[in-house]
Amino acid sequence: MKCTCIIYWNVSSRVWSIALFRPSNKGELMTPDNSKGRYPPSDEYRRTAFLKSADEYKKIYAESMKDPVKYWEKQADLIDWYSKGWKDAFTWNKKTNEFTWFKGGKLNVSYNCLDRHVRNGLKNTAAIIFQGEEDNDVRIYTYGHLLSEVERFANVLKKRGVGKGDRVAVYLPMIPELPITLLACARIGAIHSVVFAGFSSEAIYNRVADCSAKVMVTSDGSYRAGKKIDMKGKVNEVLEKETAVESVIVVRRTGADVVMERGRDFWWHDEMVKVPAKCEPEVMDAEDPLFLLYTSGTTGKPKGMLHTNGGYLVGAYSSYRYVFNYNPGQVYWCTADIGWITGHTYILYGPLSFGATTLMFEGVPSYPENDRFWQVAEKWGVDIFYTAPTALRMIRKTGDEWIKKHDLSSLKMLASVGEPIDADVWKWYHSVIGGGRCPISDTWWQTETGSIMIAPMTGAFDLKPGSAMKPLPGIEAGVFKEDKTPCGTGESGNLYLNRPFPSLARTIWNDHAKFVETYWSAFPGHYLTGDGARVDEDGDFWLLGRVDDVISVAGHRIGAAEIEAALISHPAVAEAAVVPVPDEIKGEAIYTFVTLKDGFTDSEELKKALVNHVRNVVGPIATPKTIQITGGLPKTRSGKIVRRILRKIAGGSRSDELGDTTTLIDPAVIDALIKGRN
Ligand code: PRX
Repeated sequence: MKCTCIIYWNVSSRVWSIALFRPSNKGELMTPDNSKGRYPPSDEYRRTAFLKSADEYKKIYAESMKDPVKYWEKQADLIDWYSKGWKDAFTWNKKTNEFTWFKGGKLNVSYNCLDRHVRNGLKNTAAIIFQGEEDNDVRIYTYGHLLSEVERFANVLKKRGVGKGDRVAVYLPMIPELPITLLACARIGAIHSVVFAGFSSEAIYNRVADCSAKVMVTSDGSYRAGKKIDMKGKVNEVLEKETAVESVIVVRRTGADVVMERGRDFWWHDEMVKVPAKCEPEVMDAEDPLFLLYTSGTTGKPKGMLHTNGGYLVGAYSSYRYVFNYNPGQVYWCTADIGWITGHTYILYGPLSFGATTLMFEGVPSYPENDRFWQVAEKWGVDIFYTAPTALRMIRKTGDEWIKKHDLSSLKMLASVGEPIDADVWKWYHSVIGGGRCPISDTWWQTETGSIMIAPMTGAFDLKPGSAMKPLPGIEAGVFKEDKTPCGTGESGNLYLNRPFPSLARTIWNDHAKFVETYWSAFPGHYLTGDGARVDEDGDFWLLGRVDDVISVAGHRIGAAEIEAALISHPAVAEAAVVPVPDEIKGEAIYTFVTLKDGFTDSEELKKALVNHVRNVVGPIATPKTIQITGGLPKTRSGKIVRRILRKIAGGSRSDELGDTTTLIDPAVIDALIKGRN
């Protein structure tokens, strides 16, 4: 590559300086094949991709389906084991839906994410680039330095009595102490349970109490769009109730005044200097739990999905390798929060087990201005960018000029997660952010699956805007009708994953019966995803959203039942039904129908109080967009609320568009609901 050398007078440092200019990597443009509406990757991109052709994919996929266990054992070879002592790589009791992968194999996840890279020459390579909300707030952790911090914090946890199998609840903002805590837990065999920083104290309490956490890790506060947000105060509220928490480690982030309880609360920075620097990794069984992560389902109680050390890490590593085409020296940025599964697998465990450089960003796309993402991408020369459709819709709305202000020529690959990305947003993402050069991987997966299940491997396929395309090798996905016969080409149905794979959650913490009922009872032997899908004539998957009562607000999963339970706990509410409505930016928003107890009347004040009540009980992420107070709800004779009808009413349908209403006990309620619509 030709470089230009310029000698110039540096005004600020008052010295003659030399600058080397490398031509910017404009890259080869992807030329859409308009006849088919496809976007083939450029030859330049294909050359650097892990899978380079559809034939290569087909061969690996076919082999993986012929003998999935053998295939996954080969993937397991890509991580480091103390011993591969398993007798059967996979066991599955179909009666109890208990299954294991690599049981008897011994490993340590933090060793795989840190020590092995330090030993293999990456000691001084950046593992985590932390970009704080303020531009000059930057910390770069090399693999070597990250390992030292993790070892020390592992010793802090040990000093507080944390050992193998103990639960550590983590309520931290997006700061480096968050991944350090998780890796420290992994190092000593403790089970981490991260609670998203946007949850209210009641939601935190439910999660902390459910898993009987022994230690909590939190911070004094956090920054969000220039404001200081309290964190420790919420934890104090949680701990006013009875819990198993014995100690709290507190990171100083904002310097806010906080109440510390003597003997229970300890400052991170005080403790880190009091412990030995070295901490040997604990030898863990592949089936020992690595973490719990709570997610919403169709009932009011969030489910603690349990992921294991061996299977999860194999899935995280293997999917990261297939999907992101990471090449050494690149900067990879996933904009998710580590409080969600995307952050666990694709900010932390996937990239770090792979030896990649992962960028961790504390801020939001719109602060201090609407070009913050692009300014960060330009500043760090980001190569691979992974975000959610809701962020893209918001950014698109603010205008392309914010993006065009920045040189984004370092970008090589883009990806999306959390909800269906429609073709229009896909094309905009491709042309405006990707400069027409970057393939997009629309990755479909879930908290339960632990790693990406369906996604285009972008060096191998001509992309179709809006389609997540192909299952990853080792994953068999199928779309079935209600009667469990397979759907034909183009026919919509329920998406199932046939048989367990290594990164699938093993159970729901404390509730295996619910695990079986929720995921395995509809179609025994097949994992029910809760999503609708169809497969086109090329065998490509198109995801159609949830088919159950789970709402996806800005890509965050919230159970309708959780919000209903919160509403019903308000003294004025007799009954509540919550449904999603389409939202231009957030994908879906929360629409609530509420009937009041006698003695209460509809008023703007009451509606506001109900909104605040939900925010307090569940958290700001569950803020209802609309509260419609109504005299009654549409119910069947057995008393079941017919949400199908409420969804349509909330979405603006006329009475003749609601489908069959004859099964309702009181069809007259429909007119009142339509009339009262906000
Ligand atoms: O409905 C699907 C949607 O997000 C759900 C899983 O949510 P959660 O467990 O919070 O994990 C989100 C991040 C992995 C799925 O059941 N979803 C996720 N990715 C996609 C998607 N829907 C369509 N296309 C996607 N790429």
